[in-house]
Amino acid sequence: TPALNIALLGGGTVGSQVARILTEDAASLTGRIGAELNLTGIFVRNPQATRDFQLPSEYYSDDVDEVMDGADIVVELIGGIEPARELILKAISQGANVVTGNKELLATHGNELYEAAAQAGVQLSFEASVAGAIPILRPLRDSLSGDKITRIMGIVNGTTNYILDQMDSTGASFNDALAEAQRLGYAEADPAADVEGQDAAAKVAILAHLAFHAPFTLDQVYTEGITDVSDLDHKSAAEAGYIIKLLAIAEQLEDPEGVVLRVHPTLLPREHPLASVRGAYNAVFVEAENVDELMFYGPGAGGSATASAVMGDVMSIAKRRLRGGPGRTHTARRELECLDIGESTTRY
Ligand code: HSE
Repeated sequence: TPALNIALLGGGTVGSQVARILTEDAASLTGRIGAELNLTGIFVRNPQATRDFQLPSEYYSDDVDEVMDGADIVVELIGGIEPARELILKAISQGANVVTGNKELLATHGNELYEAAAQAGVQLSFEASVAGAIPILRPLRDSLSGDKITRIMGIVNGTTNYILDQMDSTGASFNDALAEAQRLGYAEADPAADVEGQDAAAKVAILAHLAFHAPFTLDQVYTEGITDVSDLDHKSAAEAGYIIKLLAIAEQLEDPEGVVLRVHPTLLPREHPLASVRGAYNAVFVEAENVDELMFYGPGAGGSATASAVMGDVMSIAKRRLRGGPGRTHTARRELECLDIGESTTRY
């Protein structure tokens, strides 16, 4: 059986769950694609730390070069700008395909990374960077690429939706709801990025890039978080038939022609489809010329849900690699070429 080497950077909430799926479901993943996905190492700052899902200690290393050496796919889940940026560029220069969930990095340095990947002829996939488990980037890039998208409205931050929902439905305080969102693994390491709207702003910049075929960055998004939303605001909204949601909006305007990007608390009529999005769930509402409206809905944060999107990218890259797609010339190349014949006759 051919094998692909996977290096994992990061052993946090999402990284741990990717490690769990790659090891616990190894046989079934191999059965689905006809190749082994070998988790060869996990780069972490502290190899001794206890984790949500713990593998034998030999998997963990604080030597990133050792972990990335010989990797076919590098999965970056450490978050933040540096060293994530540098490590992704390094992986690309080594000819590895890259999967990342790093919205902050993509919304600030995305172009540099996309160009580096294109030049090196490798794939850079990032479905997990927006709205957790919801498949939204691939539909925007592929399924809807023949239509003209006019507007996207999304609840794309699980932590703030959880907080607003708790405040609205149980009368919980902002701080208690935030603490619970942190305990459940929804919040960023620094939850200011969630509650001040920066996380949603990064995501809407990524969505707009794919929807409107032009590069957008975090600093182009008007951003207002939920820290000023009070109990009284929730009560008054409810009395008037509304609910408060943190919406991320990307809108194409005709005159003057351009795209407006904004994140802010919004009063939504309680019967609007986005009003029913509860807890840490996310939803992305897309309007396009020929389809009218589409809504994508599902878990927007949390370890295993986000790991599912990461694994989707890993599997997609692995399948393309096995068909001779982009990536470094692997030692098992001969076997991979053999599989090309098999896959058309039996596997697919
Ligand atoms: N902190 C993020 C959220 C995690 O709450 O949505 C998923 O990107």
